[in-house]
Amino acid sequence: MSGRIPREFLGDLLQRIDIIDVIDRRVPLKKAGRDHKACCPFHQEKTPSFTVSGEKQFYHCFGCGAHGNAIDFLMEFDNLGFVDAVEDLAQQVGLQIPRDENAPHHPGPDRSLYELLERAIHLFRNSLREHPAREQAIAYLKRRGLDQAITQQFQIGFAPPGWDFLGKMLGAKQTDREKLLQLGLLVRNEKGREYDRFRNRIMFPIRDRRGRVIAFGGRALDDDGPKYHNSPESPVFHKGRELYGLYESLQAQHRPERLLVVEGYMDVVALFQNGVACAVATLGTATTPDHLELLFRNTSHVVFCFDGDRAGRQAAWRALENTLPTMRDGRRTGFLFLPEGEDPDTLIRKEGESAFIQRVDGADALSTFLVEILEGQTDTRTDEGRARFVELIRPHLNRLPAGAFRQLMVHRTAEIAGLSIAEIDRLLDRPNEPVRPKTLPLPTGRATPSPVRLAITALLHYPDLAQQARPPLAWRDLPLPGVQLLVDLLELLEERPHLTTGSLLEQWRDTEAGVHLAKLARKELTLEKAGVEQEFLDAIAQLTEQADEKNDPSSEARSPSELSQQQKEALRRQFRLKALRDKEKARTLTDSEREELKNLRREADQ
Ligand code: CTP
Ligand code: MN
Repeated sequence: MSGRIPREFLGDLLQRIDIIDVIDRRVPLKKAGRDHKACCPFHQEKTPSFTVSGEKQFYHCFGCGAHGNAIDFLMEFDNLGFVDAVEDLAQQVGLQIPRDENAPHHPGPDRSLYELLERAIHLFRNSLREHPAREQAIAYLKRRGLDQAITQQFQIGFAPPGWDFLGKMLGAKQTDREKLLQLGLLVRNEKGREYDRFRNRIMFPIRDRRGRVIAFGGRALDDDGPKYHNSPESPVFHKGRELYGLYESLQAQHRPERLLVVEGYMDVVALFQNGVACAVATLGTATTPDHLELLFRNTSHVVFCFDGDRAGRQAAWRALENTLPTMRDGRRTGFLFLPEGEDPDTLIRKEGESAFIQRVDGADALSTFLVEILEGQTDTRTDEGRARFVELIRPHLNRLPAGAFRQLMVHRTAEIAGLSIAEIDRLLDRPNEPVRPKTLPLPTGRATPSPVRLAITALLHYPDLAQQARPPLAWRDLPLPGVQLLVDLLELLEERPHLTTGSLLEQWRDTEAGVHLAKLARKELTLEKAGVEQEFLDAIAQLTEQADEKNDPSSEARSPSELSQQQKEALRRQFRLKALRDKEKARTLTDSEREELKNLRREADQ
């Protein structure tokens, strides 16, 4: 990611845009009371539970729990990374993104590179219509069965023969020539002569997730020379992170049920043309972990299609090895092997869509493929063979993240090996217990919510309440969970009183506290604003009282505390815990105090 974007800027940006506009342009909204509503774009539903609040600059779906500010929405809906989403919004309101001076400064790639690529694809597409040499290219596309609609959808073009087509059209200025060289559209040989990389080739533009052309694959029209020439890595193109067809797949369906990973450009295009609009191809490389992350960000089910030959099975094995660490629960991977001599392009043209889909439906599950390959390397009818099987599968099990899927694989291994599940578990690096959640920074609201929690919730819903609790905050050092967060919120709002819910949350993006804040921001409040305000004032008053008591313990009689018995007890324990901790640090704990501390800690963890 590029240099850090200052949080302050993010707050300003969110203040300038209106989340209603941003969302409405993508998902038409209807006004409903003070909010806007629509059917949720992130899950299937018939009655609208997706709610957008202009006041809060925040959206929330009561059905699936999706929520966030305008940046979150763009990230989710347009499948953008954080920086891209911020750039999109900034561009809309004409703001320049400043970079944090302390963070390493990586300016994004030069925009003019994208412009040159855009002009190049324009020229290539034109030459498919107008260039004197176009007959041959048209004939080739016809022979491969590509019609005009699909050629348009994928913006396929033609680089005419000759050494100086792009060079002449785009390289008049020396600065542009340098950029064309950087992009690999021009090549410079040892003698310093510069010429077009792509000559007499069908051009497949590779687009990023925003639909910008970032590179090309060029296919030869005949069997002379290499079948494909591809753009080299450049400031805008990193082939280990891009997938051909991903943009088009996500245009076809915002969140596809599954994505097929195939080997070639032609395969992707042929699948789309025949009704399978969810195919992507790596760019002549193996599937990288980055690819897998990208795939699983957009779908929960990935099916790899490979040739049935030896090379295909080897490629599948490599893909499997990269997939294991990403197999969190809820994700699925399938492996489809095609008949010898076929690729998806030839097969779907021969068999049609539904037969092809049937094959995809019947793809091997990752677990099946893994076990089958390893069983093939041993004889599991003998003890030695079974022992060897466990040895072979062990590293793969170790690479699976903890969860139900891993547990299932452990069961399967135990079955095959004739050992108990516990015995297999013991052989693994990490035990398979679920990870214990960390203690929460905020008290979880079961019985009565704590005053801290009430105050934070109220502020998130009505940030202007902060004006009623101005510093100095006498209670700021109370040893209660969440106090620091409440102080931070109030101080931030003191400085920037107009922040909305959405921009407040932005300040805590990617932090543990942020997760809890978002939860409270999503809570449906039962009270109207006046009621919430009263709750907020009460909460602050309670905190102030507690602070007074702490400073003057003898004042207990004086202050008619409104705390419930339960709250008092909880508070007493907090103070005691702090006192004992201090003693522990000073190494002055007695044995019985040590015991007491242990008990208090255990209770606090529950
Ligand atoms: N590839 C490449 N360079 C080559 C051969 C292949 O970069 N010389 C990459 C391309 O991305 C290609 C993919 O590997 O799309 C798969 O190769 P292949 O199956 O041979 O190509 P197809 O896309 O099937 O093309 P065609 O059907 O025209 O042979
Ligand atoms: Mn092919």
